[in-house]
Amino acid sequence: MNVKEWHEYSEEEILQANIEKYQRDDIVKFYADYEEPRYAYIEYEIILAAVLKALREKLGRPVRAVDMCGGAGKAAFVIKSIQPDSEVTLVDLSDKMLEIARQRAAKLGLKDLNIVAADAFSFLQQDVEFDLFVYSSALHHFKDPVNLLRLSADRMSPKGLITVIAEPSSLIGSRRFRFFRFLAASSDYKVRAIKECFQQKFKGKPAGEEIDIAEYHYTGIDDHQLCRDLVSVGLHPLMHLRYPTGGELKTIKIMPYLGLCWAFGTILCLSPDDYRANVEPMKQYIKKQLPFRIRFY
Ligand SMILES: C[S@@+](CC[C@H](N)C(=O)[O-])C[C@H]1O[C@@H](n2cnc3c(N)ncnc32)[C@H](O)[C@@H]1O
Repeated sequence: MNVKEWHEYSEEEILQANIEKYQRDDIVKFYADYEEPRYAYIEYEIILAAVLKALREKLGRPVRAVDMCGGAGKAAFVIKSIQPDSEVTLVDLSDKMLEIARQRAAKLGLKDLNIVAADAFSFLQQDVEFDLFVYSSALHHFKDPVNLLRLSADRMSPKGLITVIAEPSSLIGSRRFRFFRFLAASSDYKVRAIKECFQQKFKGKPAGEEIDIAEYHYTGIDDHQLCRDLVSVGLHPLMHLRYPTGGELKTIKIMPYLGLCWAFGTILCLSPDDYRANVEPMKQYIKKQLPFRIRFY
């Protein structure tokens, strides 16, 4: 079989893989069933509250926000709950994922959530403007996240902010991370991992038939390099943080003490001077509110 190298896949092929993956019933069911309270996604409420407060003060009017690649709308719903008068748009390529959001909105009686079925690049070609772009667990689905964020900045109001949240850092590719994840994992996962190890299927990248190019940065993103690259295209990280996410609370509380703050979040702006006075209070707020240790960079 002629298997391509990972880097040979084009943005179009990755997009196609995402279209197929996020229409699959098992994946959609996972998001539909996800029992949020069991898991520690509290960072959404805290980080977005800090961001929305700063934006609202700066703009003096309701915030126009977009949850890009928002799937079932996790970030979109959090924004609406923090600032109900904000104008929120949810964009995703999978109508099945958006359907979960539609049902949730109906349940909550939320009538003004704007739901758009589109891929991110097509959406960004439209004549739109937002004050807040949120990319939640989304950048790793793109070959070139810098380009995606640069194009988003072109659609952002001058004092707008981009919030990247719950993105895997390259730490998830480390032995230490895999070891502790293995220890904490379910028995099904352990059996699979041991089989894979013995069959030596993973040698730096999955063997051909295992490739899931939808998860293009499957070993995580080098977040510090990403920040440097973003500065070179005129996007400035106001705040960069690493933290554990997405596990059960008792597990993730331990992770930072093992040096495993594997997820990262970044708040980006066009001109740092606009927000210089906000950075320290935002950091203090986030640090105080989060129930686990985080690291700022
Ligand atoms: C890991 S899920 C995250 C969903 C949501 N943001 C969250 O945090 O729960 C990734 C989402 O990105 C969407 N997606 C992937 N590539 C996309 C693209 N090129 N344009 C729009 N959405 C995309 C998928 O359909 C999927 O819903």
